[in-house]
This record gives sequence, C-alpha cells and structure tokens, in this order.
Amino acid sequence: MIEPIRFTADTLLLLDQRLLPEREEWLELRSTEDAIVAIRDLVVRGAPAIGVTAAYGLVLGARQLPKTRPEFDTGFAELCAAMCEARPTAINLAWAVDRLQQIVGKMPAAAVDEVLAALLAESERIQVADLDANRTMGRHGAALLGDQATVLTHCNAGALATAGYGTALGVVRAAVELGKKIQVLADETRPYLQGARLTAWELQRDDIPCTVIADNMSGYMMQTGAVDAVVVGSDRIAANGDVANKIGTYMVAVLAREHGIPFYVAAPTSTIDLGVANGTEIPIEERDGDEVVVIGGQRIAPVGISAAYPAFDVTPARLVDAIITEQGVARAPYTESLRAHCEAAALP
Ligand code: MRU
Repeated sequence: MIEPIRFTADTLLLLDQRLLPEREEWLELRSTEDAIVAIRDLVVRGAPAIGVTAAYGLVLGARQLPKTRPEFDTGFAELCAAMCEARPTAINLAWAVDRLQQIVGKMPAAAVDEVLAALLAESERIQVADLDANRTMGRHGAALLGDQATVLTHCNAGALATAGYGTALGVVRAAVELGKKIQVLADETRPYLQGARLTAWELQRDDIPCTVIADNMSGYMMQTGAVDAVVVGSDRIAANGDVANKIGTYMVAVLAREHGIPFYVAAPTSTIDLGVANGTEIPIEERDGDEVVVIGGQRIAPVGISAAYPAFDVTPARLVDAIITEQGVARAPYTESLRAHCEAAALP
C-alpha cells in the first residue's frame, strides 16, 4: 500500500510527488523549515497528508529547541506560527498544529524530553488515525455506489494525499474490495495535474481501471451518460457544508447537478472547520501564475503574459449530495449533521 509519509529516528521521509509518475524518490527532511518548504513546494500535498507532515515537521524542529522551559515553549510557538503559514486553505494543517500545541500546553511542568516524546506520540496518532479514518470512510462511501459504476474524480484525493488509502479514492478502493466493478474517470486537474499524474499512478498500481480526461471533457462525459457519481476530497468544509477543494471542483459540481449525477465529498472530520460559518470565510490560496503557464519546465504562453492561479474553489452546500466522513454519511442540513459528526469524533 502507498504510504507517502514515513518517520524514522531523526528523519521525515516524503515521497516526492513533484516527480511522479516518472520517478519514485524519497526526500529526507530534518527540520521544521524543511517541512514548510516541502508543503509549500507541493512535494507533499493533499489536506490530510499536509497535516501529518506538519506534525512530524514540528517534532523535528522541537528537538532543536532549548531543553529548558519556558524557552522551549516560546520557540515551539514560533515554529507553529511559521508552519501555519505554509499553505492557507487546508484546515488539516492548522488542526494538526493545534493538536501538538495542546500537548505542550497540557504538560507545563514536564521536562522537555518528556514533551518531545509526547509530541512524537501525538504525531504518530494523527498518522494512524488518518489511515483508520480513510478505511472507515471508504466503507461508508462504498455503500453509495452501484455494483457497476463509473466515478469521476478531481485532483488527487488518494493515498498520496493522506496517510494512505485515500478519501475519495478510499471510497473507490473500498467499493472494489466489496467486489463492485468500479471505473474511475480522472480529471487531469490543471495546472499541477494531480489527476493525470497522481490519481492515474496510484490506481494503475492497484489495477483499478482509470481513464484520464482533460478538465474540459467532464461535461461531455456526463452528458453522454458516462458518469454515475462524482466523488472528490476536500481541503476545508465550512459549518454549513460549503466545500473548498481543488480549483475546478465547483465547475464539476454544477455540471453534476445539471445532469442529475450525485456529487459526494469524502473527507475526515479533521477537514471540517466549524469555526467558519460558510465558504466565503475560507481563505483561498493564490499561487504563482507561472505554475499555470510553465508545465514541466516548458513555457506554454508568451513571456510576460499575466496568469492567475487561485488554487481552490468553494462548492456551495446545496450542490453537495452527501459528505462522507469516518463517522458516516452526512446529508443536508449540514449545519446539524456535520456538527454531529464532529462531536462523535471528539468522543474518547
Ligand atoms: O493543491 P493540492 O494538491 O494540495 O490540493 C489537494 C486537493 O484539493 C485534494 O482534493 C484535497 O486536499 C483532499 S485530499 C484527501
């Protein structure tokens, strides 16, 4: 099984997603700064994977801080603040940082070595819990798919985007494990091509039939009856069920509604942000326009032309037929169902 994040004694290892599918290389990280750069440069991407990376990245930095308190606490707070700046949209990052900060806060009198051990243990828990959540979520979501279904996906919400197994692709994997005949139509997902490069790579490894389409083909595919359901992941879900996900998701959701095709979102409760009332409050990352006009080192537009790259969009809750979490299948009204999922997840 693909697990893109490994932590050894003193090193965080990330499968370098910039190089897939051509090369499988692992990058070695030794500091919080290394982890911040890796997140920002998309070595690792996908909301849950970013959260796990942030946690381990903070463990690396914490080990380099003074062994005295309160100096350790001050330094750790600075590392956390810097980590939160790495990418703004995926709430899993701030969520993981907060979990580690709470550990430090709960051990005001402990020796730094004890705190360090607790931070590592918490990071491991975050990683393991994400994997478990994806398997459970997969089972809940698989029940929504027919025995033979073509699922359209956008971006990569697979093993590579998580601790393993995936959210949207976890639903696909679980359905396949149940014996359902599932095919995937993978939007290529311009400009970083998470669909063409990453979704295609991981499904091919699992022998799950996958056909890559350019982003502008999804309407045609839906119109001609080639799509039974859409399943996507999310970077942040507002309390009212508005869903932020990779740019282009909104377009797919509008098309799905036009064609009467169910549009499902699969995400762990760690992606739900009850602190934002609706999607207008979700910060949307703006990336360098050059990432749109330079692909694999090749410029495809005139030098000097302006290019825009909002990296995410928000799909309004009314276009979302269900939100699948590890707690089950949430339906509208989401303000109530999502709160119930989060409360259930918080139980000991
Ligand atoms: O820019 P990315 O590749 O980090 O964007 C990732 C997505 O939009 C995913 O769909 C989302 O994080 C869910 S991953 C399980």
